[in-house]
Amino acid sequence: MNKRIIVGISGSTGPIYGIRLLEALKNTPVETHVIISEWAEKTIQIETDYTTAEVRALADFVHPPKNQAAKISSGSFQTDAMVIVPCSMKTLSSVAHGFADNLISRAADVILKEKRQLIMVPRETPLHDIHLENMLKLSRMGVVMMPPMPAFYNKPETIDDIVNHTVSRLLDQLGIDNDLVGRWLQ
Ligand SMILES: Cc1cc2nc3c(=O)[nH]c(=O)nc-3n(C[C@H](O)[C@H](O)[C@H](O)COP(=O)(O)O)c2cc1C
Repeated sequence: MNKRIIVGISGSTGPIYGIRLLEALKNTPVETHVIISEWAEKTIQIETDYTTAEVRALADFVHPPKNQAAKISSGSFQTDAMVIVPCSMKTLSSVAHGFADNLISRAADVILKEKRQLIMVPRETPLHDIHLENMLKLSRMGVVMMPPMPAFYNKPETIDDIVNHTVSRLLDQLGIDNDLVGRWLQ
């Protein structure tokens, strides 16, 4: 069976990271399931040239954030991984406390209980103790914390270069071949 990956886009700044990940996965055999939070709809509208309909169209399956009856809400539905990108501090907190208040945090809760791969791209600055404690708690449970930090060794020239760098590293974590950016080979 091909890989099945859940992509949760929450309402922090930087929905373009989630969009770029979906675009990259569209060129692969991976089956994608997307959840766009209510506030991510707003950030997509404010920050990008995409409509939410265009973003949804990038995924194989779309699940409304309030639909707790979606198949990805159950551990019996087999998935390989989930990426929350970008991940707001609210969603981070919800996952860290097993609160499962919407389908993003419920699906992440399922990933955790089933011991599957969870990757988070937390986005806030500066970070206070609660943010950091939530990240540490989840990291200790095996969650990969990948804040969208740009690298400069590959001399980015555009915002796309910076976005692609983070998305390339996400694809690496997921074990998906990609050539979104040049690699450090010296
Ligand atoms: C334009 C915009 C940018 C935001 N940026 C961030 C951010 O970088 N980090 C964050 O934690 N919240 C950010 N927020 C606030 C979240 O949208 C808010 O906490 C929301 O309740 C998150 O809900 P969600 O995690 O269910 O999407 C931003 C909101 C807006 C409108």
